[in-house]
Amino acid sequence: MTVTTDNIERIIDWEKARTAPPSNYPALPEIPGGRYTRDDFYQLEQQHVWKKSWLCAGREEGLREAGEYRLFTKAGPPILLIRGKDGELRAFYNTCRHRGAPVVRDDAGQTNLLRCQYHSWSYGLDGRLIGVPDERDFACLNKADRGLIEIRCETWAGMVFINQDRDAMPLLDYLGPLVGELACVEMDKLRVINEKSYIFNCNWKAAADAFLEVYHVNTIHPTNAGIMLDSKAAAMGLMRNGHSRMATRKNMNQGLNFIEQEGAPDNKAMPDFYRTNNVAYGIFPNFISPVEPTGIPILLFWPRGLRQTEMQAIYIGLDWGEGERPAFWDWFLPLFDQVLEEDLMNLEPVQASLDSGAFTGMMINYQERRIYWLHEEIDRRIGPAHLPDGLAVAQLLSDYIEDPLEEAAE
Ligand code: FES
Ligand SMILES: [Fe+2]
Repeated sequence: MTVTTDNIERIIDWEKARTAPPSNYPALPEIPGGRYTRDDFYQLEQQHVWKKSWLCAGREEGLREAGEYRLFTKAGPPILLIRGKDGELRAFYNTCRHRGAPVVRDDAGQTNLLRCQYHSWSYGLDGRLIGVPDERDFACLNKADRGLIEIRCETWAGMVFINQDRDAMPLLDYLGPLVGELACVEMDKLRVINEKSYIFNCNWKAAADAFLEVYHVNTIHPTNAGIMLDSKAAAMGLMRNGHSRMATRKNMNQGLNFIEQEGAPDNKAMPDFYRTNNVAYGIFPNFISPVEPTGIPILLFWPRGLRQTEMQAIYIGLDWGEGERPAFWDWFLPLFDQVLEEDLMNLEPVQASLDSGAFTGMMINYQERRIYWLHEEIDRRIGPAHLPDGLAVAQLLSDYIEDPLEEAAE
């Protein structure tokens, strides 16, 4: 099946009308509760998922000119992002190769030279070690071997991604069909409108799960998303590498569809499909974004421990040039904040319940299958040999992924 907005619309119609899941769809087994509560599983995720995945380190804004740098600390070790004089954006561990002091101590800035404040070893913007005071005192120093340790850094659509796995596939290959599908959004032309972080006490997956389905919107969000979205008219698409899409038809004329607000920004590059449907994308493991012509929240879920998560919300939208920010954002940002707060208020009690000892596993319905897909991908990364007894999920959904790559080859 070639994935087009037309056939997603047809799937949405079909989903709305159905009385049961498709007969060929597997009933999904429980997701074992220990995946949310056990430290050994958390450590496996750290090792096999977080240290080996492409992770969004924010937007390219502030990193476009030579020497502009920013520290990125959400993925564990502090990582220095810096634009070279050659125009390349690079990422390094922010650790001096002399005795390990942080090379950069400000969160962001612009510089000609990276000079460690401890003993003034200095590095070029490309990470090469170029200056060592009293070099004669180091008996066997080869400066060529003591550059900053570089990690993979690639960009897509105005966003910076890093990966601590040197052998990872290129970012664009990893994103696969999402690159073509989201080209119409022209995200690289959008600007950052606002950024906010929320820290709350639950496992990162309990948080991400809540943004991978619309089954909860009528109960958790009865005054906003529950009104805006027709939760039964939702089409889920599963993609390679754990990515996914959820297109949910919007109820029009309810006063809450963003695009219907007077003076709402409208990204004309995007087809009408995105005006009548809320289309949320999930990029494995932690990037979840409902894409709207009015603007885009990028939600990033960062584990801070087994039971604590930071959700970073970066809002991007059309650049209005000089002058005042469109009033739309004064309406939208508090509304979206309320939706997020409703989700987050629910999550600490969920975690406490998962931890109670009474919980055995999550029962996932057909409409919630993006959650199961996330868990399947986690297990593929960890690998069957490492998964503790009783914590694996069965691999069941690979036959149901969309495959536009093969279609394109036909
Ligand atoms: S630790 Fe950086 S120069 Fe000594
Ligand atoms: Fe929600």
